[in-house]
Amino acid sequence: MQWYSGKTISLPACLAIVLLILCIAGCHRSSTHKSPAAMAGKSATVGKKWVIGMSQCTLAEPWRVQMDADLKKAAAKYPNLKIIFKDAQNSVLKQRAQIAEFVQSGVNLIIVSPKETAPLTEPIAKAYKAGIPVIVLDRAVLGNQYTCFIGANNTAIGRAAGTWIVHTLHGKGNVVELEGSMTSSPGQERNAGFQQAIKGTQIHVIYTADMKWQQNIARREMESALTRFPDINLVYAANDPGAYGAYLAAKAVGRAKKIIFVGIDGLPSEGLAYLAQGYIDATFRYPTCGRHAIAAAWKILHGKKVPKHITLSSRMFTKANLKDGGQPLP
Ligand code: FRU
Repeated sequence: MQWYSGKTISLPACLAIVLLILCIAGCHRSSTHKSPAAMAGKSATVGKKWVIGMSQCTLAEPWRVQMDADLKKAAAKYPNLKIIFKDAQNSVLKQRAQIAEFVQSGVNLIIVSPKETAPLTEPIAKAYKAGIPVIVLDRAVLGNQYTCFIGANNTAIGRAAGTWIVHTLHGKGNVVELEGSMTSSPGQERNAGFQQAIKGTQIHVIYTADMKWQQNIARREMESALTRFPDINLVYAANDPGAYGAYLAAKAVGRAKKIIFVGIDGLPSEGLAYLAQGYIDATFRYPTCGRHAIAAAWKILHGKKVPKHITLSSRMFTKANLKDGGQPLP
């Protein structure tokens, strides 16, 4: 047999070389059989690099910093997966532009946690129609022009919070409700679930304000509620920063001990720490979706189907069950 260098090689030697090459390839494949890549069908895409564009609506809140960290940690477990993170700094315009930029730069997949429902619907739909898979996290958009939505059931969380409040106040009392941004789906749904639970009881919502998920706005709103109402029994805030802001306002005028504070998110470093310190009385875990988003992204990138909606579970934490890791919602 003629080798390319001009040297000759015998047929048996040639067969031996072919066998050796096949053996090396086989060994390599079996050594990677347990990796997520292999489970998602790596053999078809060996060597391919995947780029995910991630647009986070703000990094000014600990829950979102945790979401990005969870995405990063999960992505590190997959080979050749790179995430480009962008922070929209609470600006709808900036976030719309970021999605358009991801489309232009030709990323393989977009993950977005939208600031608001309506304004982000169009750019997400455009990306999706352009053939780029889009995973929407936590805050929903309108219609169905996206690949997959991942989040928890905010109506169920609001309802569970309302049920706990009715039970704790024995069916009557004065409540301040500090809503999350009412232009976002979690804000609307946490309010709706809570309203369902208190319907027909003697719980009166004496003051309502949209604190836009922000501790400083919650604090300011609570300051006005405190000056207007001498008898406040409980504050229901749509997130833990809101509950803590309200607590700080009440503490500043010596009224915190007489008021019960309820929040949502239940991050170990935030809500659960407030609970342990006795600043707030209950919180509900709102999962960051990071790990689930990357698992879904990997499947989508490998041509596998994922459900249109992935609903994650939540847990309730009170002083009584904190040590036991809270309890699942009914
Ligand atoms: C962070 C946050 C969380 C809340 C979520 C709702 O921006 O406000 O506290 O649970 O967004 O989308």
